[in-house]
Amino acid sequence: MARSFTERAKAARQLERWTQVYRDQPELFRSFERAEDPQGLAAQVLAQRSELGGKRVLEIGCGTGWLTRHVAPQAGLHVAVEPSAEMLGNGGDLSPAHVLRARGERLRFQDGSFDRIVMSWVLLDLRPPVRNRLLQECERLLPPQAQRSGPAIWVIENAGTGEFQALRDLVDGEGHGEVTPLVEQHGFTPVETVPTWMRFPDEAEARLVLGTILGVEAAARLDAQPRASLELDLCVLAR
Ligand SMILES: C[S@@+](CC[C@H](N)C(=O)[O-])C[C@H]1O[C@@H](n2cnc3c(N)ncnc32)[C@H](O)[C@@H]1O
Repeated sequence: MARSFTERAKAARQLERWTQVYRDQPELFRSFERAEDPQGLAAQVLAQRSELGGKRVLEIGCGTGWLTRHVAPQAGLHVAVEPSAEMLGNGGDLSPAHVLRARGERLRFQDGSFDRIVMSWVLLDLRPPVRNRLLQECERLLPPQAQRSGPAIWVIENAGTGEFQALRDLVDGEGHGEVTPLVEQHGFTPVETVPTWMRFPDEAEARLVLGTILGVEAAARLDAQPRASLELDLCVLAR
């Protein structure tokens, strides 16, 4: 019997090795990060739609700095936090961002210290209780709701379309795809889907990196149809 999207998404997340790879093989994650949306098209959309130019911006879970590199030069102040020393070690120089080692659900900044909070591919990796605590912390660090002129928390995640999601068996043309919990449980609105691509230096590296992270089924799909680049549809959401 055909499985629902929610069942497929849950099964994929159990098989995939995102957390292990970014914790134990950060150099492999760095190769993945270099491949995804190399021109930062989704980061540019996020920067424009959130009007973050000149603002005090907090980035949570910066990893090796994909989003940081693309948006920090536009912010008035960009503070990036990341709990993994290995990720930070592989990220290199992220100036003009100020980078700190910390978890997003426990930060030492004063209430209302930031105008915008941004994240790329962080929220869906967190267990729901941690995600809830992290979003509560975001609310504390922003000005009170009533004083905001619009959405202040902006995130990038994978949309439910495109070849990369097909490789993961996570195409959801009808619904919100993987970001459904962010929409239905956490009040995010999908603002824009950005068509871009994931581009590796060659097919062998794509097979190594994606096979290691996504698991045997994705690896078998790449063996059957080797590719160095895939269409990648990214979703910019805000709340
Ligand atoms: C999939 S990676 C994305 C990294 C980066 N944002 C990017 O776009 O490449 C998820 C990141 O979230 C970080 N992370 C995990 N738990 C976290 C937490 N509680 N607070 C902040 N960051 C966390 C991980 O260490 C990892 O760097």
